Amino acid sequence: MEILKPDPRTALNEIPPSPENEIIAAWDVYRTFSIGSKPIEVLKGVNLSILRGEKLFLCGASGAGKTSLLYTLAGLEKPNQGNVLVEGIDLYSKNRKEQAKLRNEKMGYVFQNFFLLPELTAIENVLIPAMIGRKKGRDRAEELLDRVGLGDRMNHLPTELSGGEQQRVAIARSLVNDPEILFADEPTGNLDSKSGHSVMKLLMSLVEEQARTLVVVTHDSELAKTGDRKIELADGRVVGQ
Ligand SMILES: Nc1ncnc2c1ncn2[C@@H]1O[C@H](COP(=O)(O)OP(=O)(O)O)[C@@H](O)[C@H]1O
Ligand SMILES: [Mg+2]
Repeated sequence: MEILKPDPRTALNEIPPSPENEIIAAWDVYRTFSIGSKPIEVLKGVNLSILRGEKLFLCGASGAGKTSLLYTLAGLEKPNQGNVLVEGIDLYSKNRKEQAKLRNEKMGYVFQNFFLLPELTAIENVLIPAMIGRKKGRDRAEELLDRVGLGDRMNHLPTELSGGEQQRVAIARSLVNDPEILFADEPTGNLDSKSGHSVMKLLMSLVEEQARTLVVVTHDSELAKTGDRKIELADGRVVGQ
């Protein structure tokens, strides 16, 4: 007689029901990179739950796996094993086009190196996510650039802006599609402490005003105290929350 194997998904009865206000969940997430023939495990079974509207910091030393975890939660890097649920949807079970749509509609990104396109002006950079989503976003882009204090710099190229100003453009860009969740990887890492501080203050107040969820990677434990909650990573594992 044929023995029926249980479906591994339904057999995972150790997964408790999600809290109602949960926006992202990671279940047993593993990430491995191969360098030559040697696999390096960077995330080793991460479980976490992010609640709607919270400001969460992911902390830990350099090499702990913070960026890898952020990218995995943000739909940018598929885990080798495990699941990421966004509003209950299993993100990486979707096809590439659906994943791209979800990212464009629900997520905003701010990176350490700003990632502005050098040949586009501030306002054109802010408009990129809106154009991808085929939305008209000019009014929203102008409003956001005003809000980040760059109303008079809209037609400047990135090279004509300071690092802090470039990061403000990137913050405006991350919000142009009204995302539910904002992900930021060391957003002040390339800024001096004064402009870093003001960029962070701006990011926090925008997230509060617009009732968004914020997930920030930092190795700065002082900065991490300014959020609602922090999760500590070490060697690819959650070691404290
Ligand atoms: N694309 C990659 N290929 C190989 N190794 C990687 C890659 N990305 C990250 N790593 C390695 O994974 C580990 C964790 O990296 P990362 O997530 O960037 O940590 P953190 O952001 O906490 O500094 C590091 O040892 C790093 O060298
Ligand atoms: Mg990193």
